[in-house]
Amino acid sequence: MMRLLLLGAAGQLGLSLRIPLAALGEVIPVDRRTCDLTDLAALRTFLDRIRPDVIVNAAAYTAVDRAETDAGTAFAVNATAPAAMAAWAASHDALLLHYSTDYVFDGQSEIPYVETDMPSPLSVYGRSKLDGDLAIGASGCRHLILRTGWVYSALGDNFLTTILRLGRERAVLRVVDDQFGAPTHAGLIADTSADLLRRHASSPSSVVSGTYHLSAGGVTSWFGFAQMLLEHAASLQPGVGWAQVRPITSADYPQAATRPPRARLDPGKLCRVLGTSLPAWQAAVGSGVAEVLQR
Ligand SMILES: NC(=O)c1ccc[n+]([C@@H]2O[C@H](COP(=O)([O-])OP(=O)(O)OC[C@H]3O[C@@H](n4cnc5c(N)ncnc54)[C@H](OP(=O)(O)O)[C@@H]3O)[C@@H](O)[C@H]2O)c1
Repeated sequence: MMRLLLLGAAGQLGLSLRIPLAALGEVIPVDRRTCDLTDLAALRTFLDRIRPDVIVNAAAYTAVDRAETDAGTAFAVNATAPAAMAAWAASHDALLLHYSTDYVFDGQSEIPYVETDMPSPLSVYGRSKLDGDLAIGASGCRHLILRTGWVYSALGDNFLTTILRLGRERAVLRVVDDQFGAPTHAGLIADTSADLLRRHASSPSSVVSGTYHLSAGGVTSWFGFAQMLLEHAASLQPGVGWAQVRPITSADYPQAATRPPRARLDPGKLCRVLGTSLPAWQAAVGSGVAEVLQR
């Protein structure tokens, strides 16, 4: 039976991965308390003890703005630790499934990025994630790097849960309307990850080591996403005086880290491997809102 070590098991993606991965084998979920990725010796000892067939690394330093003044920790978690996982995987013939980000790109492209496009990160977070990708690629281990973006779920603090919380508390929400992407539900990433691992297990040669873009289809702005979230919320709970959403620019909402304005990812390579297409971003919004409101 396949042993899958799930790092970052308490994060929004980690939580979403638990059930789909359980269909593939024995899942060992691990959070920061059990294995802090800034402690490389502890990480290696842990890997030696568990001896996983697959390392699923959903852990990351994801505080994009804080990373600007905490680069050492961001690089330790997002680059150095994945490099150590990759080295261990290479020497134990394990597979490393790792997650990366659209923030490795500068967002200047008018069309969605493919895997061969040149990264050019604008932030410490983006640079640290890119360093992780490069280290894994150079390690020689069997690996699958899934780059995604605009991840949301009903679990944890993310755009969905924040907008629904503020949407009750305030009359008006001002939301950035000049950054574009495709909101991607963590459940879609988790299910697609499990499909890819299943395909890899049954036909290893059909899933080549490398980077794959995993994003829902279509495009919107944060403003457009917020509008749709609150429309669904109002239809499910019409009695709540939900906030109005107004568009603003990135300049109206200064943040420590610069975001790519159009960091759309083209999932074509992944879809060809899986023989499927990925749904439009709108498909999961209603159920995501309903899940939060039912809590
Ligand atoms: N969220 C997005 O919009 C987005 C977009 C593109 C790519 N991604 C990528 O998707 C993956 C999953 O992200 P997510 O959205 O699930 O993020 P998340 O909710 O922030 O989860 C990340 C997890 O990593 C853990 N972690 C952080 N530092 C750690 C350390 N030193 N040792 C061990 N664990 C540590 C966190 O633990 P604590 O809870 O204890 O901090 C958290 O459980 C990441 O690779 C991320 O870069 C996310």
